[in-house]
Amino acid sequence: MKRTLVVANWKMNLNTHEASTLLHRLHEYIPAHRDIEVVLAPSTLVLQPLSIEIDRRKFRLAAQNAYHRDSGAFTGEVSYTMLRELVHYAIVGHSERRIYFNETLETIRDKVAAAIRNDIDPILCVGETKQERTDGETKIVIHDQIVTALAHLTSEEISRVVIAYEPVWAISTFGGEVAKPDDIEKVIAQIRHTISELYGATVAEDIRILYGGSVDENSVTTYLAVPGCDGALVGSASLNYRKFAAIVEAAYQQHYTEIIRGDG
Ligand code: PGA
Repeated sequence: MKRTLVVANWKMNLNTHEASTLLHRLHEYIPAHRDIEVVLAPSTLVLQPLSIEIDRRKFRLAAQNAYHRDSGAFTGEVSYTMLRELVHYAIVGHSERRIYFNETLETIRDKVAAAIRNDIDPILCVGETKQERTDGETKIVIHDQIVTALAHLTSEEISRVVIAYEPVWAISTFGGEVAKPDDIEKVIAQIRHTISELYGATVAEDIRILYGGSVDENSVTTYLAVPGCDGALVGSASLNYRKFAAIVEAAYQQHYTEIIRGDG
């Protein structure tokens, strides 16, 4: 059975002191669960100090963003090469980056390749906007996002990728509408189908697919119960240690229930 992955995306919140305080609270409230992987994605500035403080039996770090070239005259950028000792994962293609920073399918493809090249596992975010959903384009949008982003990888490298399905309209930043489990299940199945066609059934089965979009301590169990869903990417609720600890606990309970039932 795959380990459930719970990722905290702190976005552009928390300075070094605040991040350290939150980490200590999380450390207090979250026990080490063997089958649950908890990943924290603070701002780039905070990665270094947090990497020294973190208890690696409980938490892993993720970058929220980096530049796809390894070094050079790119004023203001931080490369995946610079992050490779600090983080295990990197979020790539988050909708806020696609929308606010004009990241294209190709930019995201280059970032996924740069992360892999630097031994960092990408958490690739995909998802349709409200307009695309209304226009019936969800399938094609997600298909294009997946196919382009993974274009430069071998099947072996694909197995290191985590995919997060985050419908843009369900993210708290963009309206936070509630996504229905049925809809999420369909898209997750479609993502596996696309990967299966490109890289084979085993890769498709093994790849971890998360759900993200207004996940909180109340909704997490419903989302984790969606067939094919291997975890959650959490934004605003991850800034509150009680909420985030409750989310991790719910993930643990869910995982345990599935083991008892013999699923997965
Ligand atoms: P949210 O954010 O949980 O605040 O909706 C999720 C995300 O943007 O990854």
